[in-house]
Amino acid sequence: MISKQLENDLLTRGFTRRGFGRLATLLSAGAALPFTHEFALAQMSRPHGGIPADAVRINSNENPLGPCPEALNVLFAAARNGGRYMFEEEDVLRRALADSEGLKPNYVSCFPGSGLALHTSVIAFASPKRSVVIADPTYEVAEMVAKFIGAKVVKTALTGAYAADVRAMVKAAPDAGLFYLCSPNNPSGTLTPKADIEWLLANKPAGSVVLLDEAYLHFAGAPACTDLVARDKDLIVLRTFSKLYGMAGIRAGAAMARPDLLARLAGFSSGALPSTGLVAAAASLRVATLVPERRKINADIRSETFAFLDKHNFKYVPSVSNKFMLDVRRPGHEFVDAMQRENIWVGRVWPAWPTHVRITVGTREEMAKFQKALLKVMA
Ligand SMILES: Cc1ncc(COP(=O)(O)O)c(C=O)c1O
Repeated sequence: MISKQLENDLLTRGFTRRGFGRLATLLSAGAALPFTHEFALAQMSRPHGGIPADAVRINSNENPLGPCPEALNVLFAAARNGGRYMFEEEDVLRRALADSEGLKPNYVSCFPGSGLALHTSVIAFASPKRSVVIADPTYEVAEMVAKFIGAKVVKTALTGAYAADVRAMVKAAPDAGLFYLCSPNNPSGTLTPKADIEWLLANKPAGSVVLLDEAYLHFAGAPACTDLVARDKDLIVLRTFSKLYGMAGIRAGAAMARPDLLARLAGFSSGALPSTGLVAAAASLRVATLVPERRKINADIRSETFAFLDKHNFKYVPSVSNKFMLDVRRPGHEFVDAMQRENIWVGRVWPAWPTHVRITVGTREEMAKFQKALLKVMA
């Protein structure tokens, strides 16, 4: 049920009664908002009948390693107790995340993956009067939600170093309600320097927030920005267990921000979280070696893939993440189709870079199959 307080908030922020009614109907019906996520976006290039079981799936930035053994060990007990609501588990995860980031527990809200937190942040801080500012290309979901609620979307190209151009973003949108930054970016796998994020926080229009999506940060080993959250900036940091932690299907994630910013997201919450996701995430966080180990596995396979691409004179964007953009020197969708005929499912194409296709870094065996098919398709 949508609260009176939320209704007032939406109406004073410039939503029409019609726009508000549409949201209210969906939320009161308990429906998922009609937005999308990586899996759904990846499915758009899928034929009827789905992906063959023996296909190489390097199309949706999943982690082929799956959950760590410590997470698997706690999942069964959580499933066995699944007849119970387990609110305590949410508190355990919140505190574990807060500890690991040097935050107070009330600066962390748990979500079933970070996608829902992304959706709700856009609804909470953008409106028909306050635009959403994004880099181009970037993860498409903030733009989709903005369009759904009737907020203007302002896009600025990445810099020559493939970072979000924060100065151009501020200049382009004096009416901004929300700046969405993804670092490392999906799809380019490139970082926006922390100094630029600090500049954006210091120079953005009053009343706006920065939504920093750190879904892929663990792969890069770059400095986190949660210390800026601790310093009470207008910043929401998103984290997910879907990527490095290999839990995309199990679902856990979080938003980290000042309590007053998190309170703005709470009105759209979908209620209790899956206990399986909560316990598996908390168990994963306790494994101190997990992030550096998995980061190295991914970086090693990525470097080997780049060495192969260099040897064969392919051009690609120098990613520090678990995916990269490959220049396929033709309309990207033609390459996607040709690779599917080789049973290799690569990612999608962004309109800003029509001859680039996103490739997720899979296992060594998967990347060997990718390389073989690539030479055939590009011959
Ligand atoms: C940049 C980015 N943010 C957020 C998400 C949401 O993922 P999840 O809801 O599984 O945490 C994804 C998924 O691929 C993503 O690529």
